[in-house]
Amino acid sequence: MQDNLKIPVHVAIIMDGNGRWAKAQGKPRTFGHTEGAKRVADVTRAAGQMGIKYVTLYAFSTENWSRTAEEVGALMKLFRGYLKTCIKDADENNMRIRVIGDKTGLDPDIQEAIAHVEEHTAQYDGVTLTLAINYGGRDELTRAVRSIAASVKTGEISPDDITSDTISAHLDAPDIPDPDLMIRTCGEERISNFLLWELAYSELYFTDVAWPDFGPDELRLAVEAYTRRDRRFGGTNE
Ligand code: IPE
Ligand code: IPE
Ligand code: MG
Repeated sequence: MQDNLKIPVHVAIIMDGNGRWAKAQGKPRTFGHTEGAKRVADVTRAAGQMGIKYVTLYAFSTENWSRTAEEVGALMKLFRGYLKTCIKDADENNMRIRVIGDKTGLDPDIQEAIAHVEEHTAQYDGVTLTLAINYGGRDELTRAVRSIAASVKTGEISPDDITSDTISAHLDAPDIPDPDLMIRTCGEERISNFLLWELAYSELYFTDVAWPDFGPDELRLAVEAYTRRDRRFGGTNE
């Protein structure tokens, strides 16, 4: 099957269902987050082995601050832990790690850990793992618009020069191609403010499997489904 697979360049994943997965076992939601965090390394490694170049994972949305302080605290603790352990994984797998989202809204030590990881892995050119933390598609676009408006104000560019490429260039990871495939786990079929601009022509794949149960085999199923899709970008159906 490997030979017949059409490999997406960029796969974006909404890692959903940690809480429901834990609750179904009578465990606290935070247990689901801990188990879910363990899938990140397996899935990213499997993606790299399949030839996928970019993996973007939705880890914490701008809306997720509305969860209880306990749950937010547990998630931040997991990020702190991951930002430490991922370095060894990145070294071993030639993996570049990046973060998108409004980093300024994160605790200073997390911002420092992110800067360190991004710098340490900047030269790795295997798979690129991008973590979306304190990320919202509307927030990303709002920040882009602010930055473009500032350039207009200084006279650097004129309003007539603004094209869709200008907007793409002001997003958080302008050099990463748009996702070919977007996966959401655990049954919900919505975007939840993820990569609003970048997903314009992505194929969408929804699975009932909760994130803590999502492994390399599930990733392969998604890529198989993607392989069967007939991608179009506004052209005809023929
Ligand atoms: C995804 O799982 C992880 C984050 C959003 C941080 P959820 O925590 O959303 O789990 P459910 O969707 O409530 O089951
Ligand atoms: C989206 O999941 C955010 C992340 C996976 C980080 P949510 O669980 O927060 O989204 P909704 O609330 O179901 O739309
Ligand atoms: Mg959820």
